[in-house]
Amino acid sequence: MRLYGDLATWFHLLTAPEDYAAEAGRYRDLILGALPDATTLLELGSGGGNNASHLKADFACTLSDVSPQMLDLSRRLNPECEHVLGDMRTLRLGRAFDAVFVHDAITYMATEDDLRDCLRTAFAHTRPGGVALFVPDFTRETFAAGTSHGGHDGADGRSLRYLEWSTDPDPSDTTYEVDYAVVLHEPGQEPRVVHDHHVEGLFPEHTWLHLLDQAGFEPSVDRAKLGEDDMSQTVFVARRPS
Ligand SMILES: C[S@@+](CC[C@H](N)C(=O)[O-])C[C@H]1O[C@@H](n2cnc3c(N)ncnc32)[C@H](O)[C@@H]1O
Repeated sequence: MRLYGDLATWFHLLTAPEDYAAEAGRYRDLILGALPDATTLLELGSGGGNNASHLKADFACTLSDVSPQMLDLSRRLNPECEHVLGDMRTLRLGRAFDAVFVHDAITYMATEDDLRDCLRTAFAHTRPGGVALFVPDFTRETFAAGTSHGGHDGADGRSLRYLEWSTDPDPSDTTYEVDYAVVLHEPGQEPRVVHDHHVEGLFPEHTWLHLLDQAGFEPSVDRAKLGEDDMSQTVFVARRPS
């Protein structure tokens, strides 16, 4: 995926860290609601470190991602956090955290086997009595095909605008597709247009709950909204038994 590869330095113009304060606050409250004394957190698929840039005020964060370019970007935003290269399906750090957090990156688990492997990774890194949070963009029940757009102007003269188009060509399988049309402006250069195609996972809530249970967690579901205009987003809150 080019957004996390050769275009990674543009990521904060696609989605800006400062826009994540309210959302990250919800995740902090869910973690501390489940485990008031939580202090350590591992994020799988931490990307540009947008959520982490807020969560690091409350937790000592270890951030992992499969993309070296995204880790570089996050390191610049979150120099005080530990960064680790690794695939969320196979990462094994040999230590456990009070909390494990997997935000929208879990959307790249496109098969049940991939999702199962990621949940096992999360379990292996959650200490007994700890909590893990999983925030897929959609479940099968909440998916809605559609478009959205956005982008930002950077302080360095670069600007980005995008159109994001989500479709589900085969509603009987475990994936949907997202096409990004991205326009890049940089000083002294002709504008560039890039197309990036992502295949993302879509699982019914009962599959999530079953796989979380199989992994060893005690799962529950949180559907709180951030505000009146906000679409309800399913968050799976999973306790590792003591
Ligand atoms: C949308 S970004 C995550 C942004 C993040 N939620 C934030 O707060 O900045 C998605 C990330 O998932 C990562 N990713 C995709 N597949 C992965 C895998 N198998 N293991 C670890 N990271 C993965 C990508 O490299 C990318 O950095």
